Amino acid sequence: MTQQTPAFQSALNLADYQRLAKEALPHSIYEYVYGGGADEITLQQNRSAFDNLSIWPRVLNDVTKGTTATKILGQAWRTPIMLAPVAFQKMAHEDGEIAAARAASALDIGMMVSTLSSQSMEEVSEQLSTPKWFQLYWQLDRDYNLALIRRAQKAGYQAIVVTVDSAIHGIRNRAQRAKFELPEGIEAVNLKDRPPLPSKAFTPDQSIVFQGMMSEAPTWEDIEWLIKESLLPVIIKGVLHPADALKAQRIGAQGIVVSNHGGRTLDTVPSAMDVIPAIRKLVGEDYTLLLDGGIQRGTDVFKALALGANAVLLGRPQFYALAVGGAPAVAHMLRILREELEVTMALAGTPCIADINSECLLNRD
Ligand code: FNR
Ligand code: LAC
Repeated sequence: MTQQTPAFQSALNLADYQRLAKEALPHSIYEYVYGGGADEITLQQNRSAFDNLSIWPRVLNDVTKGTTATKILGQAWRTPIMLAPVAFQKMAHEDGEIAAARAASALDIGMMVSTLSSQSMEEVSEQLSTPKWFQLYWQLDRDYNLALIRRAQKAGYQAIVVTVDSAIHGIRNRAQRAKFELPEGIEAVNLKDRPPLPSKAFTPDQSIVFQGMMSEAPTWEDIEWLIKESLLPVIIKGVLHPADALKAQRIGAQGIVVSNHGGRTLDTVPSAMDVIPAIRKLVGEDYTLLLDGGIQRGTDVFKALALGANAVLLGRPQFYALAVGGAPAVAHMLRILREELEVTMALAGTPCIADINSECLLNRD
């Protein structure tokens, strides 16, 4: 009797996972996940920002005590990689976020769980033994936000990540063209008890964007309030401008995720890699900066750290691996990336995370 080899075992790198996921997923779901905003200029830049940087290696350093271990918000991490919040993971695999959580735990990697997870934050938390942070999409009712973050705390989450770059979706032409719709039976289960939104009538001179959708969006005042009310550290996700990074730091956010939401919101904004050096300069050495968008190789993780990130997040790669082979594939994908980071550090002559800095890159100082 011959045993079938799982499809994911042929994947050698994260791009292979993307290719296999394209074959495995319904067209409209793949297009929704892969796609970016409008003309996808930022989406492309998220990749070219990495490809255009050269690592400048040092030879003959002793790396036999090498390690990817680091500290984030005072917690020991095995490796500076975390799963980004990615909504509705049951679209990728019937085991959904629970499978991603199991894989992350197996590889000693943390996970941010989305407000829009397709399994409840409590169920996912039960499977997660590594750093677990709850990602909040701001809801209109302040008290309801409070209820959500208290629930997250009770369920064992250790930080709140509030996403501020996507109060409304960008122009998602690719997803529209593919006629993407949330499949039946998949929903935002965490929000089942959300109070109904007040119904609104628009006068002809009002805008469905400004007076409509954006009237539910948070402002700095709301985030300040959230930080005061939260008993957990608050991290702000989706910051690109150094002035906003400074503002976040001043109002007491414990860190930020420098991110353009995987190129999925406003098109033609810069990649996180293009702006993180300026942000790092302004917030100082000790402030926690995470970065995401386009990470696909160990060399990408290395370059992000060299420019000032403390750790990076993976969005699409977890969804693709999940689609290809559930929890074992996500674990395999994470192992590939961690090992690529180790190879990069070894060959660049930087045995420890603290050794990675801008001098490791050509023409960066
Ligand atoms: C996302 N992202 C996201 N972000 C967030 O804060 N809450 C969410 O629920 C989601 N959902 C989501 C769904 C899908 C399908 C994608 C592709 C992305 C953004 C995500 O956390 C992250 O910022 C980007 O995905 C990072 O870019 P890469 O790694 O996908 O290139
Ligand atoms: C997205 C939302 C769910 O990027 O954040 O599709």
